[in-house]
Amino acid sequence: MKIRVGIEAIAFDVPHLYLDLAELAQARGVDPAKYTRGLGQRQMAVASSGDDTVALAVGAGRRLFEQFQIDRESVGLLIVGTETSVDQSKPVSSYVHEHLGLSPQCRSFETKHACYGAMAGLQAATDWVLSGRAAGRKALVIASDVARYGIKTAGEPTQGAGSVAMVISSEPRLLEFETGRQGFFSQQVMDFWRPTYSKDALVDGHYSMACYIKALLASYDMYAPGATEGASEPGFFQSFQACLYHAPFAKMAQKAHLALLAHVAGTELLPETPAYAAALEDYSRRVAPYLELQSRIGNTYTGSLFMALRSLLEDGVFQGSPAISLFSYGSGCAAEFMTARVCEGAAALLRRHPYRLQLDARTRVSVDEYEKLMEAAARMDQNGSFALGSPEASGAGARKVLFHGVKDHQRQYRPSH
Ligand code: HMG
Repeated sequence: MKIRVGIEAIAFDVPHLYLDLAELAQARGVDPAKYTRGLGQRQMAVASSGDDTVALAVGAGRRLFEQFQIDRESVGLLIVGTETSVDQSKPVSSYVHEHLGLSPQCRSFETKHACYGAMAGLQAATDWVLSGRAAGRKALVIASDVARYGIKTAGEPTQGAGSVAMVISSEPRLLEFETGRQGFFSQQVMDFWRPTYSKDALVDGHYSMACYIKALLASYDMYAPGATEGASEPGFFQSFQACLYHAPFAKMAQKAHLALLAHVAGTELLPETPAYAAALEDYSRRVAPYLELQSRIGNTYTGSLFMALRSLLEDGVFQGSPAISLFSYGSGCAAEFMTARVCEGAAALLRRHPYRLQLDARTRVSVDEYEKLMEAAARMDQNGSFALGSPEASGAGARKVLFHGVKDHQRQYRPSH
C-alpha cells in the first residue's frame, strides 16, 4: 500500500518587535522606495536579546501543540534546521526537546546548509516516514533563525528573524507531498557565509542572486519531465496553481518566477513586451498573494519558504486539491524543487489562527531602539552575560521561553512570565 506523507500541522513564531523599513531607509539616507518597491519589504522583525534561535524554535513548537491536537508522545523524530545555531557541538534541538516536553524515545538533531537546512530536515523526515521506520510516529521539523548582516550594511534591510514548526507524518491534513520525482542541485560557491568567529553573515549580494537563479533552473530541470533531455514542457510548470520560493526579500520571489518562466518558455523576457506583461500577471496570480509574511518579517533563512507556505495554506482559495511548487535555496549552495497538493479543508483549519493577528500584535520600534537591541543581543552571547539581568522582554507573554544569557559557559533559558 502506498504510504502518504506530508504536513499534518504547521505554526510559526516571530519576535514581538518590528522595524518599519521606510523609517530605516530614511535613517540610512536611502530613498524608501528602494526598500519597499526595489526589495519588496515593508517591515523587518527585530530579535531582542531574549529571542535567540532556541527561544524562537520553542515558540513555534508550542504554538503548534496549542493549535493542533498532536500528542507529544507520538513525535518520534525532532529536527531543527538552522544556520544560526547557538553552539558548535550541542544542537538547538536538544534545548527544544526539553522545552517542548518531548519523549526520550524521540531522536533529535540539527541540520545545516544555510537556508536549505530545514528543507534538508523535511526531506529526511519524509524518507523516514516513507521507509516505514516511523511506524506511525510523527516527525517535528522546525526551521528557526535570526538573520543578521549588521548595522549599515547592504544586507541590513534584508535581515529578519522567525521560526516555523511542521509535523510531517503519514496523515497529512494540510499538504501532501508528491514524492515520485526529485530535483536538487549542489555546488560549492562563496555567495554567503558566516565564519565561526562572526555573529553577522558575510555576503556577495549580487552574486548570491545569480547563484540562486542558477540553482533554481538546474533543480527544476532535474525535476520536470523531459527537461534534462532538452524537451521541458511549459504545460508542466503552468499546472501549478501557486509557486512558492525561498524569499530573502520579497522581490527575490519575483526575480525567481520570471527567470523560471523565461527558462521554461526557452525565451528571454524583455521589459515592455507582451510576454513580459504576461509573466508579471502570472507572478501576481501565482506568487505575490503569498508573500505577506515574508515582506512583513524579513529573511527568516531556513523558515522563509515555509512562511510562504503558511500564508498560502490560510489565504489560498482553491477547488479540490491543487498542485503547488516549492523551491528552497541555501547559499553555499544547495537547492531543491518539489511539488505537493494542498489538502481539502486546510484553509478552514488555519483560519482559526489567523497569521495577521500574530503580526498585528507586534510592537514597532524606532531605528535607535533597533540598533540598541542589536548591540544588546551581541553582548548576551558572551560567558557571564547572565549577570546582566533580564533580557529585553520583547517576547514576554507570547513565547514563554527566553534566552537569559550565559552562566558558567551554559546557556540559560527561563519562562518569560
Ligand atoms: P543593493 O546592492 O544595495 O541594492 O543591495 P540594489 O542597488 O541592487 O537595489 C535593490 C533593488 O532596488 C534593485 O531592483 C534596484 O533597481 C531597486 P532590481 O533592479 O534588482 O529589480 N531600487 C529602487 N527601486 C525603487 N526606487 C528606488 C530604487 N533604488 C534602487 N529609488 C542586495 C541589494 C539584495 C544585494 C542586498 O540587500 C544584500 O546583499 N542582501 C543579502 C543577500 C541576499 O538576500 N541574497 C539573495 C539571494 S541568496 C539567498 O537567498 C540565500 C540567503 O537567504 C542566505 C542563506 O541561504 O542562508 C541570503
